[in-house]
Amino acid sequence: MSFATKQASSYFIELEEQYGAHNYHPLPVVLSKGQGVYVWDVEGRQYFDFLSGYSAVNQGHCHPKIVQAFMEQAQTLTLTSRAFYNDKLGEFEKYITQLLGYDKVLPMNTGVEAVETAIKLCRKWAYEVKGIPENEAKIIVCNNNFHGRTTTVISFSSDPSAKNNFGPFPKGFISIPYNDIAALNNVLKSEENIAGFLVEPIQGEAGVFVPKDGYLSQCKTLCEAHNILFIADEIQTGLCRTGKMLACDHENVRPDIVLLGKALSGGMLPVSAVLADDEIMLTIKPGEHGSTYGGNPLASVTAIAALQVLLDENMAERSEKLGAYFREALKKTGSPLIQTVRGKGLLNAIEINSSDENMAWEICLALKEKGLLAKPTHGDKIRFAPPLVITEEQLKECIVIIQQTLQSFERS
Ligand SMILES: Cc1ncc(COP(=O)(O)O)c(C=O)c1O
Repeated sequence: MSFATKQASSYFIELEEQYGAHNYHPLPVVLSKGQGVYVWDVEGRQYFDFLSGYSAVNQGHCHPKIVQAFMEQAQTLTLTSRAFYNDKLGEFEKYITQLLGYDKVLPMNTGVEAVETAIKLCRKWAYEVKGIPENEAKIIVCNNNFHGRTTTVISFSSDPSAKNNFGPFPKGFISIPYNDIAALNNVLKSEENIAGFLVEPIQGEAGVFVPKDGYLSQCKTLCEAHNILFIADEIQTGLCRTGKMLACDHENVRPDIVLLGKALSGGMLPVSAVLADDEIMLTIKPGEHGSTYGGNPLASVTAIAALQVLLDENMAERSEKLGAYFREALKKTGSPLIQTVRGKGLLNAIEINSSDENMAWEICLALKEKGLLAKPTHGDKIRFAPPLVITEEQLKECIVIIQQTLQSFERS
């Protein structure tokens, strides 16, 4: 079969079904092109992308400045491994540490690798700086977290589908309710050998749960009082998604360790980063941690461009302003199908009010027919997270699509 022949969606869906592992349940749409806030399917239909690759394309699909930086570097030098120095990694390290105000950065690839790195760093700091006895360090995490898919990280997930039959699991994690400062206080008082607290500033995958104002700053204060590290997983919430560079900035909280991923490359390739000060970062010595691709020149150049675009195009301000407008507009629809509207900046979700457990999925299928792509998360929630380059006019168009779609279900 010639690859030049244009194939229908069903062909590609069947290919994936037959030859790929069945570890996802995608919406039945086959995308072949993206630009800015739009994606197109293989039949040429245009859609608004309201998922943004789970917030990896905050800068919009194929942003020309990021593509240009990527292309130039792709033709020059892509990978050296860390066995040698390269002339791009240091520039990236300087840029991102100065931008976010940390002494050092450790570059990795995927988000979950950044999480694993933070766990290792936190434990190393606990043994070598804080003085916790060997193998006794514990890290506090929150119920309903999502930090990725490795065996250690799923060990502290509360989602049965993420962890069932993947054990045995490592020890050393204590899970407490999210958005509950008393729970953190209690565990810090009752448990010994706590090394750190790992938290999402907003729980994205759980359905965009925004904690009470002051939660993060109170957590930080408690962590300081007990000499434990406050680790912010900003992989989904960071990089302007919630209306600030970091979601922790809403409460002027400076985490001890910050994790970034996803939009750090604007969707071009997997790039993640762990930021911390010397006291923490320099506990890891040569040979103790790394990754073949981590810090490669292609990733370094792409990440600088991706960060510059966020700043040059005032994406944080755009996200904050348009997000507030979007939530208000959704509330004003008064749709009985909307139980709650919540979010910050352009990271938003609605909770569907229906006894039909397939309703969120059905609504997403109907939104697709009207040219808007969104995906249910945890059954009855639909996340709305368009690229931050979306204009006010485009957002208004999308609000009409969402409103009309919900109305069609109210009637049925
Ligand atoms: C908060 C958070 N942490 C970690 C991850 C894992 O990132 P990755 O899929 O790149 O490993 C995600 C992915 O959705 C996330 O939302």
